[in-house]
Formats: sequence, structure tokens, C-alpha cells
Amino acid sequence: MHPLFCVSIFWLLPLALVLDDDSPLDCVPRRSVPYHSDNAHLFHEEGMSNYTTMLLREDLGLLLLGAKEAVYALDLNDITKKRASVKWEVTQQQEDDCHNKGKEPETQCKNYIRILHKLDDNRMYVCGTNAFNPECDYMSYANGKLTLEKKGEDGKGKCPFDPIQRYASIMVDDNLYSATSMNFLGSEPVLMRSSPSSIRTEFKSSWLNEPNFVSMAQMPESDQSDEGDDDKVYLFFSESAVECDCYNKLVVSRVARVCKGDVGGERTLQKKWTSFLKARLECPVLGSQLPYIIQDTYRWCDPDQHWKSCFFYAIFTPQADTSDLSAVCAYRVSDISRVFAEGKYKMPVTVETSYVKWVMYSGDVPVPRPGACIDKVAREAGITQSLDLPDRTLQFVKDRPLMDQAIQPIGKKPLLVRRGATFTCIVVNHVQAADGHKYHVMFIGTEDGSLLKAANYDGEMFIIEQVQLFQSPQSIKILRFSNVTDQLYAGSDYGVVQVPVATCGRSLSCMDCVLARDPYCGWDKVAGSCVALSSTQRELIQSVRDGDASLCPKAAPVPIVNQSILPGGNVKLLCPSPSNLATTSWERDGRHVTSSLRHQLLQDGLLILNASDSDVGRYRCLSVEHSKVDKYTTRVAEYQLDVKRAATSVPQSQRRGPSVVGLQAAVGLLVVSLLALLAWNFYNGHLPLPWNCNEKKKGQSNGSHGQGGHTSTGSHQVALMSGLTEGKPLVSGSGQSRSNNNHTDREVGFSSGEDDDATRVTLPSLQFIDDESEI
Ligand SMILES: *[C@@H]1O[C@H](CO)[C@@H](O)[C@H](O)[C@H]1NC(C)=O
Ligand SMILES: *[C@@H]1O[C@H](CO)[C@@H](O)[C@H](O)[C@H]1NC(C)=O
Repeated sequence: MHPLFCVSIFWLLPLALVLDDDSPLDCVPRRSVPYHSDNAHLFHEEGMSNYTTMLLREDLGLLLLGAKEAVYALDLNDITKKRASVKWEVTQQQEDDCHNKGKEPETQCKNYIRILHKLDDNRMYVCGTNAFNPECDYMSYANGKLTLEKKGEDGKGKCPFDPIQRYASIMVDDNLYSATSMNFLGSEPVLMRSSPSSIRTEFKSSWLNEPNFVSMAQMPESDQSDEGDDDKVYLFFSESAVECDCYNKLVVSRVARVCKGDVGGERTLQKKWTSFLKARLECPVLGSQLPYIIQDTYRWCDPDQHWKSCFFYAIFTPQADTSDLSAVCAYRVSDISRVFAEGKYKMPVTVETSYVKWVMYSGDVPVPRPGACIDKVAREAGITQSLDLPDRTLQFVKDRPLMDQAIQPIGKKPLLVRRGATFTCIVVNHVQAADGHKYHVMFIGTEDGSLLKAANYDGEMFIIEQVQLFQSPQSIKILRFSNVTDQLYAGSDYGVVQVPVATCGRSLSCMDCVLARDPYCGWDKVAGSCVALSSTQRELIQSVRDGDASLCPKAAPVPIVNQSILPGGNVKLLCPSPSNLATTSWERDGRHVTSSLRHQLLQDGLLILNASDSDVGRYRCLSVEHSKVDKYTTRVAEYQLDVKRAATSVPQSQRRGPSVVGLQAAVGLLVVSLLALLAWNFYNGHLPLPWNCNEKKKGQSNGSHGQGGHTSTGSHQVALMSGLTEGKPLVSGSGQSRSNNNHTDREVGFSSGEDDDATRVTLPSLQFIDDESEI
């Protein structure tokens, strides 16, 4: 598809939605909030960049931030307040060595902080790429200072050499689990646990085949386990499919897992995982032939419930540049766990001389089950650790770590599919709405620096808003949520921003507040404002499932704005719609205004060209928005238009010379409009600086104050949701790049030419062979 074509589709979307309500691909955010410095708190330090590693230290009230050559400790409540920082720069010698090996001194030969984890003794473990020579260290925060211990631990296998390579890591019981590549060339991928007896994956393409690591998470599966199961560590990644019966390279999404208690085998799989199993992860996007590729995940667990009720939310993007869709799929941890515990394995079969096909294994499966953790049954048979496992079991899993069955998302389809800016990362929140139900709200970062907020109402996806977080388009590379501050933290190469989960004050009317269907917000009739549920004990008007605004009190009439214009002049009457889902229309003296040469109906107003006496009248802009239950009409703006001769339009000016008449008219209008604007904001109880507002409503200087315009009020409120629960963010190196973890030199070829090949893969060749009998 030609990029321009995509762009045009993106821009036509709001229109398309009006025409086709139910199209699942056309999820349009109800509200678009353009960039404004009030949208978020920003941390950015001059000369510093790549703020893409984070660690929330709620116990210290800090956000630890890893950047290029530095670590920062920021105030978790207000990240603009820097509490401490420490530099970790490469030496000239290191930079020269790196340069001599053919790397770029200014970009590649620096120290990019990639790993930041908390240790049980409250210190932190930090690793950086260190000029293509990864190194790790211990760091502590005391007396307002960050201190590195300069231990100089080898970071090989823990942290990538190459700053653009993707990786994932997690700290479990002071053991670092890392997924990255082990060598300078970036060609030897590994999933490793660094502990006194460190263990890792086999270097075999059936285990990891040019992977791109995405994230890791642990699951406490030993908890109340009847089988005496072990805890697991999950790894999400994408890789070239070994099992694909196709000529071209095909990338698939995977989830792999290992057992926490695994210490490797005695002879076979010595110091290697005996429990490494992986399965394909599906996120079937309608109309796509090539599988979508996983980019980030978020683990969500209800703290009051068993691990089996946990979910993984994952973001997917297309394989090749064939489409500009992104998708979110959700998986039950129990579904994933079942495939590993009970599913069939795939096996390679050599057909003809060297051609290998992967088919379902239907022979006898050894006991204990290959890849299973040591459980009660194994212990009863005298196998108390992985070292005791028989060779037959170990050899089986060494050759066949891939499960036959793919893991399906909940509902067998994506929760959300959207065209436009590529999704990069996700955080999910569970929030109790006024109706007493709990809803999942997704926060999704995109490549252009906007944050989407979407909710799932009984299977219906609704994008509440899209907020531009960075001034210039910046890929959001990491997103974290703190359930202590109720704030989101988004990192990019340029800086880090902090945003509250809801800015209810963006809705100025009850109708807008209710139709926004934001579970965090409701309309307070007494205060006459849209407020956070958590901020008040009063009963609020909210209807997240249906968008039923019938309980809203009658809106105060919009003030009429007097607008004068000289004959033959042009004027734009503004009518900013509060919602992308609404359609606006104009009436003049109660009559519908249709588009004509002289009357142009624009997205945000009515343009009257070459005005004449016939244009005089009362203009009213109406906005109509459909919700599930009803159709709501709001009067957005009202104007009294007069076409006057200059001399009569501003009578006082007659006393002064005619030369200043025009100027005075303009100044007069401006003053009136500013006063109206100010009054309106005061009336609503918001006190933003008027010039902020003006900047925000660029071009609205003709006395319109746009009822639905976005105000800057209400941001940064620290909304402490009492009924809120949270999931631990996955510790991951999210969104660094698309570079995979082996065969770097081939990767160059891949990005330049093989993409095209990938798109040429035809459907029949994509089928996975499911049974030996099919050969
Ligand atoms: C670091 O940030 C710069 C922009 O400031 C960007 O061009 C570069 O790709 C980033 N490097 C990495 C490794 O993310
Ligand atoms: C925040 O989440 C952690 C687990 O991630 C949980 O232990 C804690 O109770 C939560 N705190 C609040 C205030 O919900």
C-alpha cells in the first residue's frame, strides 16, 4: 500500500465511522487531545537522551530512570523534581576499542542503561551496553544520593551489546532472568538465569531462531497447586518460524516458559533449561494472511484471586509494511499454562534428503513429561530436582521444545484493532465504575507519541481519548503504571512524561462527561463539573456501558456571541465539537444551513465568504452524538451575525479619526472575546491562565469559547482510586527496536529486501502441517 494512501485513510476515518458504525477496524478515539504542556509533567535534561528504562520504587517514592550514560531518581509524584542522578559513562579507551571494532562512536559506543531491578536488600542491579561490552553494577539510593558500587560485573547474556537490539529481563528472588544475545555480533540468543549455578538455553534454531525478545513475567503457579507445581517465568518474543512449511522467512509470535526450580540436567542439558517450552501465540486480525507480531505485554492479576485468573494483554503489529493496523489481544494465563502442561508437541521430520517438516508428535511421551516442572508425582518417583530427570525426557525436550497447539486469545479475536500510529506499549488498569462493575481500561502508547485510553464494555471496545504526550512525534518506548500514585509514566528518546489515569476536567458539560464513558469520571451535579470518582463521596452521573446522558440536568444555554463583519468580508464561526463521534450542523434563524460556495461547512466551524446583508441572522451550531441508547443534541455555539458598514459597527470610534476605526473594531472584538473566555472558565470553576487557553484553541479569537474545547484544567490530579487494583508491570526492555537477537548481518538484508519477500508469501504455503499423516 502506498504510504500516502494509508495517510489518507487515516484522516478519512472519522468520516468513515459516520458511514459505517460497526466496522471493527475503525475504532476512533472519541476525543483527540492535541499536544499541550499541561497534558503531562515532562522530565528532560539538556544533552541527555534515550530515557527508555524504568524502575518504580514506590517504597522510596522514586521513579528510577535509565538513559544514555546516566541513571536518574525522580520524584514519583512529580517527575519534574529530580532527586538524584548518577553518570555512568564509557571511558575514552572503551569508546576507542568499540570504534576500532567498527562501531559508531557517538551512537553505538556509549553506555545505554538497559537493566534496572530492585534487589531484596533494597539496592538495585543496573546494566548498560557499555560501548558494546555490557557491564552490570550495584546501585543504592541513600541520603538523597544515587551511588554506583563500580563492581564491573560482566553483563554478557544479561544485557545486549547492541543498544538497538531488543531484550527482556526480570528479577525473581534476586536471580536475574534475561533474554538477549550473548556475543558481540548479536548472533547468539539466550534466555538465561544468572545465579550461582547459572543456566541457559541451548544454542539451537529449534529453541530460539533469530528472536526479538519482548518481555518477561513470573507466575506464582506453585500457589495452592494440587500437583505441587513450581513457579514459572514466561518470556514473550517473536522469531522466525522453524515450523513454517514455506520458502520464505515467516515471523511468528511466541510465549515460552521455564520453571523457577530448574537447575539443568545431569548429562543431557547440563546447565541448560530442562523446562524450556514454547508455543505460538495467535492474534488473528481479520483480513490478514500473515501472522501479527508481538511488541509488548502487560500482566494483569487480581490481587485477591488465584493466578489462574490473571491475563496477559499483548500488542501486535503487522509482519511487513502491508498494513497500518495494530491490535491488542488478551490471553488467560490458565489457557497458556494448559497448553504447556497438557498439549501435544511438534517434531521435526526429515523428508527427502535435507528438507525438514515440523509435524505433530503422536508417539509415546516419556514420563516425567518433557518440559514439566518437578511436581508431586515426580517427587514420589524419587525425582526431586531437574538433575534427576531421565535422559529420555531430557533428550525429548531438547529436540522438541515447541508445542503443537497455538495459544488463542480470549474470544479468539483481538480486543481492539486500530488503523494509524503503530502501537508500541500497553498498561492495563482495572477500575470500578459508578455502576459497581469493574472494567479493564487499556493505556496504549504509539509510535507518534500519543497515548490511547480504551475501555472494554462487555466486549465492545471504546476509545475514550487519544492524548498527544510529546510535542514532536516521539515513539513511546516504555509505559509503566504506579498503583500508589495512580499515574502513568511514559518514556521516549526525548524524555519522560507523567500523566494521571484520568483528566475528567476536559469535559465541560454533563453531556460530554457522560458520553465520554470514562469509568474514572462522573458528573457532579452539585459542583457542576466532571470529576474523578475517587475524589468525591457525592453521587455522580455516569453511564459507561450505554452512554446514557438522560440524567444530565439541562445544560446552561450557550452565551450568544455578537459577530460583526464588513460587507464583502469573510468570517469563520467556530464550532469545535467535543467529540470525534459527533456530527455538527448549522442553523440560521432555525433553518438548516447547507454547504454552498459562500457557506462552507468545515469540521470545526462555518466559513462565510463575501458576506452580504443576506447573511445577517442568528447562527446556531448543533452537535449530534449517538450513544447506545439515544441520540443527543447539544448546542455548541450561537452567533448573532451582523453585516455592517465600518462606521456604524463601532459607533464610538466616530469621535476619533476614521483611520483607527478598523483597528479599534478588532481590538474591541478581541477584548470581548477574551472576557467571554475568561468568564466562561471562571464560571466553570477552572482557572487556567487565559493565554494557555488561547494557545490551545488556536485561531478561536473571534469570540467563540467552544464549549467543548479542551481546557488545561484538571491535569495532574493525583487521583487515589480506593477500589483500584493493579497488575505489576512486566519488567521488560520494551520497544527498543525491531532488531533481533541473532544473525545481525543478515538482518540488514532483511530490512532492505526481505520484507518484500515476506509479503509475497502466499496463503497456501503458510499452512502449518498438523499431523504426521499429512506428509
Ligand atoms: C537515542 O536517542 C536518539 C534521539 O535522541 C535516537 O536517534 C537513537 O536512535 C536512540 N538510540 C537508541 C539506542 O535508542
Ligand atoms: C499495588 O500493587 C501491588 C502489587 O503489584 C500490591 O501488592 C499492592 O497492594 C497494590 N497497592 C495498592 C494501593 O493497591
